[in-house]
Amino acid sequence: MDAAERLEIKIANEADILKSRNKIRVFIMNNLHFSLLERMHALTALSELTRNIFKYAGEGKVVADILQKPNGKKGIQLVFSDSGPGIPDIDEALKPKPISKYQTGMGIGLSGSKKLADEFDIESAEGKGTIITWIRWERH
Ligand SMILES: Nc1ncnc2c1ncn2[C@@H]1O[C@H](COP(=O)(O)OP(=O)(O)O)[C@@H](O)[C@H]1O
Ligand SMILES: [Mg+2]
Repeated sequence: MDAAERLEIKIANEADILKSRNKIRVFIMNNLHFSLLERMHALTALSELTRNIFKYAGEGKVVADILQKPNGKKGIQLVFSDSGPGIPDIDEALKPKPISKYQTGMGIGLSGSKKLADEFDIESAEGKGTIITWIRWERH
């Protein structure tokens, strides 16, 4: 895969969350035919999942790749990985939570991030870390 179509961003503090948002925003604009709404969906999931890395694992990274289907449609794959505590019960973690005024981020969490994806996968082992794959394809 062309180096220009991959972006890797380390997440270790609050500033990295915003930095990743700005970098992925430009990455999407340069590589994909996404509407403003589609771009916002990707950036919303990005904010949630990078915030979870910072909040629960302390540090980790996000790797963005441009994918292409045989029919020419492109998509973005975001892989969020950390070596934190892991998610012991993934089904429980994916249950939508009521909105709280004390939440950080947009508050859509894992469940909302999954809804914004075309393909979504969580791999996690307690004590070993978490890998979340989020994919969204061009519609037009
Ligand atoms: N990267 C992660 N490492 C460990 N646990 C996580 C991670 N991301 C999410 N979790 C767990 O999954 C739960 C649900 O996450 P989320 O839906 O983002 O809600 P919130 O962060 O508001 O609790 C969290 O409360 C946390 O226990
Ligand atoms: Mg969260």
